[in-house]
Amino acid sequence: SFCRLVAISTSISPMVSFVLLVYVRFNSRHGFLVEVEQGASVAELKETVGRLQGVQPDRLRVIFAGRELCNESTLQGCDLPEQSTVHVVLPPSTSSQHSELVQQHRPGRGMESLTRLDLSGSRLTSVSEGLAVILETDASRQGNSIGHTAHSSFYVFCKTVCKAVQPGKLRVHCRDCKQGTLTLSRGPCCWDDVFLPNRIHGVCQSQDCDGTVAEFYLKCAAHPTCDNDTSAALDLIMPNTRRVPCIACTDIMTPVLVFQCAERHVICLECFHLYCVTRLNERQFIQEPLVGYSLPCAAGCPDSLIKEVHHFRVLGDEQYERYQRYAAEECVLQMGGVLCPAPGCGAGLLPVDDGRRVCCELGNGIGCGFVFCRDCKAEYHEGPCRQRTHTATGSALQGYIVDEEAALRARWEQASQETIAETTHPCPKCQVPVEKNGGCMHMVCPRPQCKFEWCWLCRVEWNRECMGNHWFG
Ligand SMILES: *[C@@H]1O[C@H](CO)[C@@H](O)[C@H](O)[C@H]1NC(C)=O
Ligand SMILES: *[C@@H]1O[C@H](CO)[C@@H](O)[C@H](O)[C@H]1NC(C)=O
Ligand SMILES: [Zn+2]
Ligand SMILES: [Zn+2]
Ligand SMILES: [Zn+2]
Repeated sequence: SFCRLVAISTSISPMVSFVLLVYVRFNSRHGFLVEVEQGASVAELKETVGRLQGVQPDRLRVIFAGRELCNESTLQGCDLPEQSTVHVVLPPSTSSQHSELVQQHRPGRGMESLTRLDLSGSRLTSVSEGLAVILETDASRQGNSIGHTAHSSFYVFCKTVCKAVQPGKLRVHCRDCKQGTLTLSRGPCCWDDVFLPNRIHGVCQSQDCDGTVAEFYLKCAAHPTCDNDTSAALDLIMPNTRRVPCIACTDIMTPVLVFQCAERHVICLECFHLYCVTRLNERQFIQEPLVGYSLPCAAGCPDSLIKEVHHFRVLGDEQYERYQRYAAEECVLQMGGVLCPAPGCGAGLLPVDDGRRVCCELGNGIGCGFVFCRDCKAEYHEGPCRQRTHTATGSALQGYIVDEEAALRARWEQASQETIAETTHPCPKCQVPVEKNGGCMHMVCPRPQCKFEWCWLCRVEWNRECMGNHWFG
């Protein structure tokens, strides 16, 4: 009876469960779901859509991921996964330039499907030695892959639903009408084709549009997405098809991030997360005008800054916010600005004149109202700055600042700002907010240009007295 049960279930399941749901957008306008059998061909889809729309199926064109699909293909064979949007267009009845052009670009003539593309090779140089050679991707070596990576070699950070690194899918639309009705003259073959505008052309098959330029974008492949729910491409993350161990934990993981250093060092995503958090805590990110606030290869290789800063989304929402705050602060400092020294504030200010009096303006949603002296960063005063020293005057100053802090803290309501106020003090020398982690009161300013050593409690240069009294709080 066991055998009979198996026989029944295998004979039933293909009939009942394998229905493909295809989301059809008709003539770039209204969309509707169409249910077809799993093995259905494009011709059958045309017949169904023709029946629903009351038009002759032979005049319909089916466009998906930059290609027109030909009648004989099965939807499955075109990598049309469930709930993908496929465009069906009905060209005007007079033979148009559109339909002639599309004949030249029939699928199968040199253009790879967007769903089977692997561009990771374009992020790996072939000239360097060592790991790069091992890492170089090669479509004919699919047997080496971990799991089944044949379909997706794109990764995105899905910030709306998954809040995680996910396999992505590459899609294309017409630059002019933003519809997926464009058929490509050739597929992209490197990341530059995808990222840089105006490199790939095609013909928009929509009857109201003469667009010829392709615009690529990525979506999270883990769930159905709205048209506007696009994700940033993480071009350094790729499937670990060559099973290279992580530079930090030495485990063989997939996917991995491959740095753009000469060695193409590989790091697993978990270790990359740890690397980012640690560097962020130490304020060791580098502000580079063309790139932004970024990190080099974890091995410290030269010229290896990560150029797509969306990779730092792996920090998670809360830490990523901190990352953006630090980035803005570094920017302000490099532009010759100052950071408000009020605890818990740290707003970046670009004073309009050279005067010593700087006001952290209330009312713009950022400022705290503190008015301070640009030179000594204490509350604004007439006359010369008071010299900060390491002894008695230092502690007098400290009492004053703590009072100020208590007063300012009472003005904030949000818990997160409270936390910042409690765990952050400005470095007494350069005024960059420094977070305290761990129990030690001996602080070192993490900015490479500063490295000032100071006491968390006294807010003065670290000295013998502090060492004796409260090294460990
Ligand atoms: C494609 O299929 C549709 C629907 O069966 C049919 O009407 C049309 O003539 C076919 N076109 C070609 C070029 O074979
Ligand atoms: C996307 O569109 C939907 C409705 O069409 C809207 O509710 C949502 O806010 C939009 N999302 C973005 C990120 O624009
Ligand atoms: Zn997602
Ligand atoms: Zn690792
Ligand atoms: Zn400092």
